[in-house]
Amino acid sequence: MLSNKKGKGPYFTRRSIDGFHELKMWVKKMMNGIYAKLGKSLSAKRLKHSVGVSETAVALAGCYGADIEKARLAGLLHDCAREMTSNILLKIAENSGIVLNDIEKCQPVLLHAPVGAIVARRDYGIEDDGICQAISRHTVGGIEMELLDKIIFLADFIEPGRDFPGVGKLRDLAWSDLSDAVLAAYDNTILYLISNQGLIHQDALNGRNALLMQKNMQ
Ligand SMILES: [Fe+2]
Ligand SMILES: [Fe+2]
Repeated sequence: MLSNKKGKGPYFTRRSIDGFHELKMWVKKMMNGIYAKLGKSLSAKRLKHSVGVSETAVALAGCYGADIEKARLAGLLHDCAREMTSNILLKIAENSGIVLNDIEKCQPVLLHAPVGAIVARRDYGIEDDGICQAISRHTVGGIEMELLDKIIFLADFIEPGRDFPGVGKLRDLAWSDLSDAVLAAYDNTILYLISNQGLIHQDALNGRNALLMQKNMQ
């Protein structure tokens, strides 16, 4: 798309401008279609949250060099299965071969993340593995989180509609060190769960430990 034939800095060719414009239009059309479809399965509040996550993910992707359009789509779709009943989540998980652990059996709502990845592929035509993985990991995280996984995980925490003690600090950290911000988000969740006698998913503990070990090795 970019060329620099004269050595005076990059410029766009006419063809690349047309191609870029077409791509932008295609993404816009696709986003509008997804938004309309999501509106039929999510409440207005959840839809607003999803838009907030999408916009925050776009900004984080710009900051950390991730794919902007993948971040936009993953953010918008991350909660596409959030308002399914426990029975439906369990049924889709079972039909898709997802092996449930004891915590997921006890709290099927946690399945909205991995089931969301399946629904994004099945009902919204998302074929990109990276987008589906980011949707699948957005709730409890996990080890070996990739850049887009971290962005969606964090965007879900700090989108403008979120309001909890410490969110301001987390927002500040998000723009200076992505991994430290994800680590702080894990800490926040785990401390909340401990103080409320909540179950802690193994993937959250494993994800936090992996980040801490990476940090200590630096
Ligand atoms: Fe979620
Ligand atoms: Fe969410």
